[in-house]
Amino acid sequence: MSMDVARAAEKRADTARKPLPEAWPLAGMHNSAVAPHAMVASNSALASGAGLEILRAGGNAIDAAVAMGFALAVAYPEAGNLGGGGYMLIRLNDGRSFALDYREVAPLAATHDMFLDAKGRVTERSQIGHLASGVPGSVAGLTAALARYGSMPLDKVMAPAIRLADSGFAVDSAFAESIQGNSERIAPFAGAALFMPNAKPPAIGSLFKQPALASTLRAIAANGPSAFYTGTIAGEIAAEMKRGGGIITKEDLARYSPVWHAPLTGTYRGYTLLVMPPSSSGGVTLLETLNILEQFPASPAGSVESYHLMAEALRRAFIDRNTKLGDPAFVQVPVTELTSKAYARDRAASINTKHATKTGTFGGVKTEGVNTTHYSVVDEHGNSVATTTTLNDLYGSGVYVAAAGIFLNDEMDDFSARPGVPNMFGLVQGEQNAIAPGKRMLSAMSPTMVIDPKGQLLMVIGSRGGPRIITSVTQVIVNVIDHRLSFTDAMSEPRIHHQAWPDELHYEPNGLAFATVDSLRVMGHAIEAAGFSPGGFVGRVIMVGRVDDGWEGVIDPRTSGGAAGY
Ligand code: DON
Repeated sequence: MSMDVARAAEKRADTARKPLPEAWPLAGMHNSAVAPHAMVASNSALASGAGLEILRAGGNAIDAAVAMGFALAVAYPEAGNLGGGGYMLIRLNDGRSFALDYREVAPLAATHDMFLDAKGRVTERSQIGHLASGVPGSVAGLTAALARYGSMPLDKVMAPAIRLADSGFAVDSAFAESIQGNSERIAPFAGAALFMPNAKPPAIGSLFKQPALASTLRAIAANGPSAFYTGTIAGEIAAEMKRGGGIITKEDLARYSPVWHAPLTGTYRGYTLLVMPPSSSGGVTLLETLNILEQFPASPAGSVESYHLMAEALRRAFIDRNTKLGDPAFVQVPVTELTSKAYARDRAASINTKHATKTGTFGGVKTEGVNTTHYSVVDEHGNSVATTTTLNDLYGSGVYVAAAGIFLNDEMDDFSARPGVPNMFGLVQGEQNAIAPGKRMLSAMSPTMVIDPKGQLLMVIGSRGGPRIITSVTQVIVNVIDHRLSFTDAMSEPRIHHQAWPDELHYEPNGLAFATVDSLRVMGHAIEAAGFSPGGFVGRVIMVGRVDDGWEGVIDPRTSGGAAGY
């Protein structure tokens, strides 16, 4: 731990924490950087290097974020992408803030029941292969952000990404393992030739070049987003779709456009939050959870009370998420009501502080019956950017447009393929999030900014992990505000997860003391060690936070990445 971090930790850690279980592996695993003026943090040290390069060359936070977005598409292809979508929050040094929705949309030929077989059962076509992809939004989003709030030309901010694709980068163990772990997804499609030569990941230490991706990036740098949406690349994507039985056409690509919104705002114990409005559920669900928690006094980190209240607040917020939220361009979404303090008081009143409330008592969804990446940037002028982007699964649908060097997403699985039937994250969602042509599928991505009571930017944060994005970001924020933990400790603190359906409380293995698990069970929680991701970890958070001496970039010890500043 650097001296700066040690000082920050000392200052914040003024609230008692129950001792961490001895077997908890992440205590003290601090992966952070501190610098006085500016900071970037992402899942790829190379992409963070691209962001730093642009900042040092005089770019602002938006220039750096766009550089990182394109660099992640090269150096972190499991989630960084041109073939997916995402969300960006921008806060300028004059206090103005903006939210950019560049989520994928369902193709024009998509239909409500397109993923059901003749017997009405959900098939895996929403997760793998050509039908799984929504129309990609990343290139439109990144270029729109740059055009409005950047200060540098597109070719300049794309230069580091083009260089990484052209000259290659050394394969490290994280990249090789990610390909190995997803070989079944990659192997059936055209990406196998490059990503699995000889049916194996490229050797660790070898140079990994992506010439097709380099020429795609060069075309975008020279001609802007039209190269992707109406030019050669659009033709290549449409041709791959036709070959594989997909439905995205040139018309779909030509019609795509990102949407600017005002960020949603909320408060939590005197702090202000800027969050993403729908089509992401992240912001609404995070604000509703925090508003409910605010109705109770903060209880010590690691205590049974704190886990119980967190689970009950999440349960209520996820019930609303899964039944009421969808793309606001298609369905009525009660955002103002769900994020109001009055509503939170009502929800909080239904919490029994000694006993779990079964999800079923609230009624059900009306029915018959993973990789993402976040990056944060703060520049020396006080501008900041929080971006989360995804292909959904690692390497998306597996489909690789070889001529363009890009993986396509499997974001269609974020819709309710059949209302009431769980998707790959076990999310049981309703008709509000049913498939319709041109509609955005509901997301959990939660790029978030926290402003302290003095009005200063405190945290620029986000995560990956499907619905666990919401629960992990919420818990890190609560660890900082309620538990006064340093940013690194707030990050390594064990997490829980509750998403209402299934009615289970998941905890990170070894993160909760046996007695705590037992107490929660006695209180009526169906408590289980978390599965779903390696190690049973909940979320992979990336953040930049204000410390006395400048900015601290923190990478969750549950993942790889790099933070850098000056
Ligand atoms: O938008 C969403 O909510 C999901 N497609 C995010 C997927 C994800 O985070 C997978 N990463 N581990």
